[in-house]
This record gives sequence, C-alpha cells and structure tokens, in this order.
Amino acid sequence: MTVRRLAEAAVQPAAFAFKGEKVAEAQRWIAKYPKGREQSAIIPLLMLAQEQEGWVTKAAIEQIADMLGMAYIRALEVATFYTQFQLKPVGTRAHIQVCGTTPCMLRGSEALMDVCRDKIHHDQFHTNAAGTLSWEEVECLGACVNAPMVMIFKDTYEDLTPERLAEIIDAFEAGNGASVPTGPQTARTFSAPISGFTTLTDEKPLLKVNRDKEARAEAKAAKAAGAAAATPPVAPSKAARPKTDAIETSPAVKSPSPVKVAPSAEKAASAAAPKHVAKAANATAAEAEQAVRQRKAAAKPVEPAAAYKAPEAGRGKPAGADRLAATPADVPAEKGIASAGRDKGRPSLDDRNRPAAIEKPAAVDDLKLISGVGPKIEGILHSLGIYTFAQIAGWKKAEREWVDGYLNFKGRIERDDWVRQAKALAKGGVAEYVRVFGKKPV
Ligand code: FES
Repeated sequence: MTVRRLAEAAVQPAAFAFKGEKVAEAQRWIAKYPKGREQSAIIPLLMLAQEQEGWVTKAAIEQIADMLGMAYIRALEVATFYTQFQLKPVGTRAHIQVCGTTPCMLRGSEALMDVCRDKIHHDQFHTNAAGTLSWEEVECLGACVNAPMVMIFKDTYEDLTPERLAEIIDAFEAGNGASVPTGPQTARTFSAPISGFTTLTDEKPLLKVNRDKEARAEAKAAKAAGAAAATPPVAPSKAARPKTDAIETSPAVKSPSPVKVAPSAEKAASAAAPKHVAKAANATAAEAEQAVRQRKAAAKPVEPAAAYKAPEAGRGKPAGADRLAATPADVPAEKGIASAGRDKGRPSLDDRNRPAAIEKPAAVDDLKLISGVGPKIEGILHSLGIYTFAQIAGWKKAEREWVDGYLNFKGRIERDDWVRQAKALAKGGVAEYVRVFGKKPV
C-alpha cells in the first residue's frame, strides 16, 4: 500500500458544493443515521463527491466534514485510508483500474498494465496529455473467475487480452465507452465455463421428473387434507397458556392505571364484578374462579398508596409538582418497578421526609453514574423531581431512608453511599469521582 496524499495545491479547486440531485442524496444519507451519529455518512458522501467531481478534492473533504460536524483531520483520515477515493484528478473519459492480484496476475494482468503504460501514461495516477485517460493497479475486484480484468468507473471488463483492452481504451477515448459490453469479453456467459455447460446439461428431463414427483405428492396431500376435514376437531391444547394468577395480569389493573384504587375501592370493585365475571363466562370454571381471585387481589390497597400522605404545603412540592411528582400509587405502575411482590415488606413512608423536588432543569445530571442507579431507578427519581447530583448530595438521613423505602431498596442507598458518590460527581464530575473512589463510575 502506498502513501496516499492529497493532490498538489495547484490543481485543488477553491471550493466544493454538492449540485443538483446530489444535494438531496447527501441529505438522504445523513438522515439515515441517528442524531449525533451523522458522521457515519462520511463514506457515502465522499463517494458522492467523487462521482460529481471525478475525484475527491481537499475542498470536498472539508465541506463534507463541515456538513457532518467532523474535524477536518477525521474526514481526511477516511479519504486517505480507502483506496476507492481518488485523491488526484483522473481521466475525464476513463480511469482504468487494473487488477494485479494473484489470479489476474497469473492470467496476464502485467500485459494489461503494459497496454495502459503505452496508451495512457508510463506511471499510474497520471493522466494522458489530453487529461481524458488515467490508470492504476488495484487489488482484487472480485471477478477472479474471469481473470484478468479491469474496472472502469462502476463496470468490470473481464476475460481480457491486451488487444481487447487496447480496443476498449480506444472506445472510451473516442467517447464511445457506453457502447462497450461489460462483463466477459469472450463468448462466456457470466462466470460459466468458457467451453459451455459441463454439468446439469440434462436439466430439463430432470426437472420434469421432479415436477411429476411433486404433483403426485401434492395430490396425496390434498387427499389426506380432505380426510382430515371430515374428522371432528380436537380442542386446542391449553399447555402453552400463561399462568395468570399473578395480580399484575388481572385485566382490572392497567399501567398506568386510569383508575385510582383507594382503600375504600373494594366496594366499587365488587360492583364491577358482574361485568368481569360475565367476561369470563366462556372460560372454564377454574378460570372464572381465578378471575374472581385476581379481582379481589386488585381491590386490595397497594401499601405505598395507603401510607402516602399529601405533601405539606411548601415541602417537596414546587410549582407544577402535580406533574412532577406523581403519587406513590401512580409511580410504581408507571415505572413497573414495584410489582405486587416487591410491595410486600415495603415500609410505611412518612412523606414529611420526602426529598424536595425541583422543576426539570435544562441540564439534567446523568444519575446513572451513581453506582446502584440504572435507567429504571433514574426514571423513578425523575418522577420524584430528583434530577441533579447536588440534590442527592444534600439528602439527610431521613430523606435517604424515605427514598430507600420508596424504592424498596432495603438499605442499599446507604450501602452504595449514594450521597458520597453524588457529592463527588457534583463537585468535579467523573474526574473527582475517580479521585475520591479510585475508579471510574460504572
Ligand atoms: S484477482 Fe483479479 S479480480 Fe480477483
């Protein structure tokens, strides 16, 4: 591999811009990638620039880097790494890429390069005097079966002899490149043997045998299907049915629940029973019994809801807190964090100890940097109006216990030392965290 550098300044155009259809095509490529990952479009955009200009200019590299929000050096690295990008002007009518890899070399690619030297320029990457033709030696282009071969723009010309390549070059030089048939330049069909088919020559009779065989099998299957249709249907198996005696599978429980289930709601739930049971009318007796069990379970108050008291005026409830801080009864359903199983053993919460909530700030800290906080927990903290390391760093013991109880964490907030972690992150971000804990946040 040779060193690839940009063309000398004298031949570099002052500016570059996509033109015509290429403008929309470039935008289409950029839109394929997620926001913030637009740089992934660098290769297709460089290819578009090359298709438009014939080669990749310095101005094009810089313009594309600007479009993608990349440093120029990053775009330059890509353009100079991949040999598909031409960094110098190439022939305006043809740039001939001669494969020099082993199969093509063994089949005479050196002689093809001699033709290029004679007709275009002694050295590759130089145009002829008129600037219409240029050539280069490339690695395998994937048509080895028809070696030797060349590629001109996007087409391959295979099974070449020096004489045939000379004719092709002449045709392109005369502006008749489009008239040259692509692919094998012999009587070969695609990559089939040049002497004609050597296998499957009796394909047609074989196919007939197969067709007859298939027809007989189909007739047999149709006959069997007719017999099956006359057979009484077998009741479908219930083996794959999910177990539905868990409270969260009750149809009465919605997430997030549109209905506030209060301790006194048992009566209301009982009133709804006929409808629910009627729905189960077609179910088996066991299923109906199970539905009743689920309904009763759903009517039981959820413990945190029972323990929840409205925040006192001025404490932990800023303007707009109705939106910010859902009641504990709502939040577990929204976040799916507290299943009925997790609610068991959840301590009663005195909301006077609930940490103060804030309006969502423009810049929210990544609370997941705190060991013990994952995406779900972060979501719950947000629903409580906790968005910053500084808030957590300021939690008193009672507040920590409130959150710990709310999350049913059984002391994990203390064990993971959220407050110390949050203090470090609030003070100096990850660097301070590393200084304090001797490791990066996980
Ligand atoms: S070696 Fe020439 S195309 Fe593969």
